[in-house]
Amino acid sequence: MDLGVSSDDLIPHANPAVANIIKSSYGTILQKLKSGGKFLDVGCMFAQDTRKLVYDGVPAENVYGTDLHNEYFQYGYKLFKDENIIPMDHFIAADILDETDPGLKPLEGKIDVLNNGQFLHVFPLEEQKIVLKRFIKLLKPEKGVMVTGRCAGHEDAGSHVMGVAKATVKGGDATKIDEHNAESFKKLWVEVGEETGTSWDVNVWLLQFGLHTGGDDKPANWHRAKENGVLSFIVTRQ
Ligand SMILES: C[S@@+](CC[C@H](N)C(=O)[O-])C[C@H]1O[C@@H](n2cnc3c(N)ncnc32)[C@H](O)[C@@H]1O
Repeated sequence: MDLGVSSDDLIPHANPAVANIIKSSYGTILQKLKSGGKFLDVGCMFAQDTRKLVYDGVPAENVYGTDLHNEYFQYGYKLFKDENIIPMDHFIAADILDETDPGLKPLEGKIDVLNNGQFLHVFPLEEQKIVLKRFIKLLKPEKGVMVTGRCAGHEDAGSHVMGVAKATVKGGDATKIDEHNAESFKKLWVEVGEETGTSWDVNVWLLQFGLHTGGDDKPANWHRAKENGVLSFIVTRQ
């Protein structure tokens, strides 16, 4: 499928059907969060996705971010100068895999929308399942809750050699990264759904570098070849 993505925002404007799903989902998310729903950005780093929601009118008390490193939150405040807008205790330093960490415990079962940008590929495939199960625990146990985000993608799902993997991937083989295509990502959610007694509607698109971003950009690190790309997803509980 030609997604026709423009290079500036990764929204596939040339493919109105896909662009409309993404835009209308963002509208749904804004509505949920403006009417009291809670948002959690996992692996938020400087939390630009979290801040975009607040700048689009979501009350700051409804958004949370979490990451391994507390100092990223300080850099985020330095960068965006909004310490008077987003409460500091809404950024929680925790390991998403550590269910005993008291930081995220109070949010379990409370989240309406869980975002994770460039996050899942940090983990080897077997841990990705554990991460998704933790996401499900953090979300409200009800229809309509959402998991949104993006991660490294590849036309052929599997384990791939990547020069910068050591700096990115936790554990596993530090020279490789486990990447999905749309089919393998859907399969992952079917498996996790079966193992948790939940069911998920998975919208997912592989936006390939060079091909969908236009231009003949030079392959490097993340963009290794035309087979590489960004897997964007909007997953909703049925
Ligand atoms: C590639 S960065 C993505 C940052 C941001 N979401 C973005 O899209 O720009 C991945 C982030 O995940 C965080 N991370 C890695 N392992 C984690 C874990 N086990 N629990 C929580 N955060 C983790 C890293 O510290 C890093 O900030």
